[in-house]
Amino acid sequence: MFDRKRIGTCAITVLWLLCLAGCSHTPAKTAQAEEHPWWQHAVFYEIYPRSFADSNNDGVGDLNGIASKLDYLKELGVDAIWITPCFPSPQVDFGYDVSDYENIDPMYGTLADFDHLAKEANQRGIHVILDFVPNHTSDQHPWFLDSESSRTSAHRDWYIWRDGKGPGQPPNNWLSTFGGSAWTYNPKTGQYYYHYFYPQQPDLNWRNPAVKDAMFDVTRFWYKRGVAGFRLDAVDALFEDPNLHDNPVLPGKNAFGDPIEQNKYNDKLPEVHDVLRGLRKVADQYNAVLIGETWTDNIEQLNRYYGHDNDELQLPMDFLFTTVNRLSPAAFRKQIAAVNSASGWPTFVISNHDIVRSYDRYGDGQHNDQIAKLMAGLYLTLRGTPIMYYGEEIGMKTTPPTRRDEVQDPIGRRGWPREKGRDGERTPMQWDESVNAGFSRAKPWLPVPPTYKTHNVADELKDPDSVLSFYKQVLALRRTNEALLDGSYIPLNEDDPNVLSYMRLYKDQAVLVVLNMSGAEQKVTFELGSHGFSSATGLITTGNSAATGSVVTLEPFGVFIGQLVK
Ligand code: NOJ
Repeated sequence: MFDRKRIGTCAITVLWLLCLAGCSHTPAKTAQAEEHPWWQHAVFYEIYPRSFADSNNDGVGDLNGIASKLDYLKELGVDAIWITPCFPSPQVDFGYDVSDYENIDPMYGTLADFDHLAKEANQRGIHVILDFVPNHTSDQHPWFLDSESSRTSAHRDWYIWRDGKGPGQPPNNWLSTFGGSAWTYNPKTGQYYYHYFYPQQPDLNWRNPAVKDAMFDVTRFWYKRGVAGFRLDAVDALFEDPNLHDNPVLPGKNAFGDPIEQNKYNDKLPEVHDVLRGLRKVADQYNAVLIGETWTDNIEQLNRYYGHDNDELQLPMDFLFTTVNRLSPAAFRKQIAAVNSASGWPTFVISNHDIVRSYDRYGDGQHNDQIAKLMAGLYLTLRGTPIMYYGEEIGMKTTPPTRRDEVQDPIGRRGWPREKGRDGERTPMQWDESVNAGFSRAKPWLPVPPTYKTHNVADELKDPDSVLSFYKQVLALRRTNEALLDGSYIPLNEDDPNVLSYMRLYKDQAVLVVLNMSGAEQKVTFELGSHGFSSATGLITTGNSAATGSVVTLEPFGVFIGQLVK
């Protein structure tokens, strides 16, 4: 389901690959060039709560910590925060194993803390998005504890139980995306249960209407508490073939040493869309947004997630974009054109808690800060909704563990050394140069990368040339610029192998974006006359990048964002 681009490993493709309800959320102030739902102009920011800010100094971040940083987020230019799961959980998968959907894990605070956070965020015009994990629960959820207790228990059919093929043989060949068989035997009742992820994350049986009702009610519970939407976890995996056909086996082995399978019978089944339509109906009653964790291979698949009548996900995440892992204008042009041809509003993501940070995926080791600005100049100026990942705005580096016994993420322990897990992209936020980067006074749950001395919020706020200052400038421009918010995307100089250029055109206003994806200086000439413009004047530029009439000169990895003049 994920396609993790590891650093320094040869290509390993693992096939896993406020106010309360009824009140409207205060929309952030943006240029409203056209009637747009709030989430189309918003900038989202993903927070991994364990790693953002620790208010009670136990080494793990929490909700009050997030609340204490809302002013920072507001100033940065963020309109919505997506908090990854903060519900009660044994934390086997750091919250993606939920044992109570309608509460807050004590490690992160209380429901009252959540209400406080939601209220404070709302006062600043910041929407709160939670992470909804519909595919599976924790094996400690009361539903599963009852389900596994006997074959006739009330919740038996809430999960997927099957007989093995024979003694010691699981029902079929399906593999867990986290390694090993997707079936675990339960000696108490003599059957196997199915789990797409860890054995501690049994899959819910979405063919059972009681599951659907209970889970839809979970979303209502949070909407009524002021949540403005959900990021839906692992929606591709909601359904499985009831006849349990074996998946086709492909050549090779994955990082866990398992055969590689094509998840033909347990991924993206058509029934997923019935559930999404239902969830959307509920969301629409609360003016809420649904963001999907959707690992699509092509635009046809992406379109299916928007729904035939745009009645499913408003923002299926475009991981197609994260599959471009080199600074290639041609490859980006292709993806941007594809996404612009899709049937719904584009979403752009370059980093998250499951993939190597963009800083390292694109960085060349020498110009990483410059390249981080280049990437911001790209995905924050495209037509669509960007979803940032905490720390990206200060150039945080992926810092994977160097020894197996340091690894926290279980897939890292299981897959070591080929698969080091996801700790590297989840390290504590770097706030300042003080002990533990100002994240906590106690030893943080993951080590703070040594780069906190050079890359941290406090220092970068003071430096007009920092990655953070650049992000702030682009976000501020985007907020008020109608061409960036609503303009069409017009690719320019499409044959240029080094420089990615495009225009964003809204009525008679246009912005020119020119991104040098090479390590050499570039001079680019544009035929602006054919678009009714004569020259460009810089709005945001890096280094010596500048325009003279319709010629733009760029330093290595330079950015030029300019206003087009008639
Ligand atoms: C996707 C989440 O992003 C990931 O972190 C998690 O491990 C799996 N889904 C399982 O919930």
